[in-house]
Amino acid sequence: MKGVLLAGGTGSRLHPLTRITNKHLLPIYDRPMINWGIEALVNAGITEIMLVTGGTHAGEFLRLLGNGHEFGIDRLSYGYQERPGGIAEALGLAARFVDGDPVLVMLADNIVENSIRPMVEAFRADPHGARILLTPVEEDEHLRHLGVPTFDEEGRIVGIVEKPEHPASKFGVTGIYCYDADVFDVIPTLVPSGRGELEITDVNNHYIAQGAMAYDVLEGFWGDAGESIDAYYAVNDFVRRNGANKD
Ligand code: DAU
Repeated sequence: MKGVLLAGGTGSRLHPLTRITNKHLLPIYDRPMINWGIEALVNAGITEIMLVTGGTHAGEFLRLLGNGHEFGIDRLSYGYQERPGGIAEALGLAARFVDGDPVLVMLADNIVENSIRPMVEAFRADPHGARILLTPVEEDEHLRHLGVPTFDEEGRIVGIVEKPEHPASKFGVTGIYCYDADVFDVIPTLVPSGRGELEITDVNNHYIAQGAMAYDVLEGFWGDAGESIDAYYAVNDFVRRNGANKD
């Protein structure tokens, strides 16, 4: 199984910090944000990784990570997204790297308390369709910033709405996804959303319509450090006190 870490985008919700660097190079406790994502993948046994980034600070990732060996990576590739055209567009740049294998995709601003290994192993055991990771979220105000699933009576996901005004459940879709190689056939069929991006939620809804979507519910803390400056500091405080990616 290969891994793709997405670290492009503009980081506009963290301006002015992200005018002078890439969001995923900002510190989370004692290291750059991207290092936590790398650790999450390597701890789950994923050691062939492509990092996709963009903008004017892309070279700093090479300086920080090099060939990745220091971090337990066997093979580290880099992709460059020329404009922030969306999460699904960024993933599309990894098609040749993934080369037909199952793939774990992680948004590099997501930080988890506990190891993602259980989800990765479940997908390794049945590497077809898609598998996503949900997190319980109480406040509607928070859910309005996320993808939010709707369930049927059997607990199957029947659809995901991106940033809903009226959230249909108390779960958010985290930025941690497993896909089979068909994902690279789905991405070229997408049309840009209202915000001009190819949306990962549209990819997920495609798999849901095919009856090919599984999910796990994450235990422990999950944070999107790019959601707002308050979320960034909440993630920092949590990681400083408790650590992350724990087995
Ligand atoms: O964090 C979880 C949420 O992430 C999900 O609940 C949403 O369904 C999903 O759409 C996403 O929402 P965000 O609004 O947080 O996405 P954002 O635009 O902040 O992008 C998240 C990461 O994806 C960012 O840290 C880097 C990467 N990215 C994003 C864009 C737009 C890229 O690599 N390229 C891009 O063009």
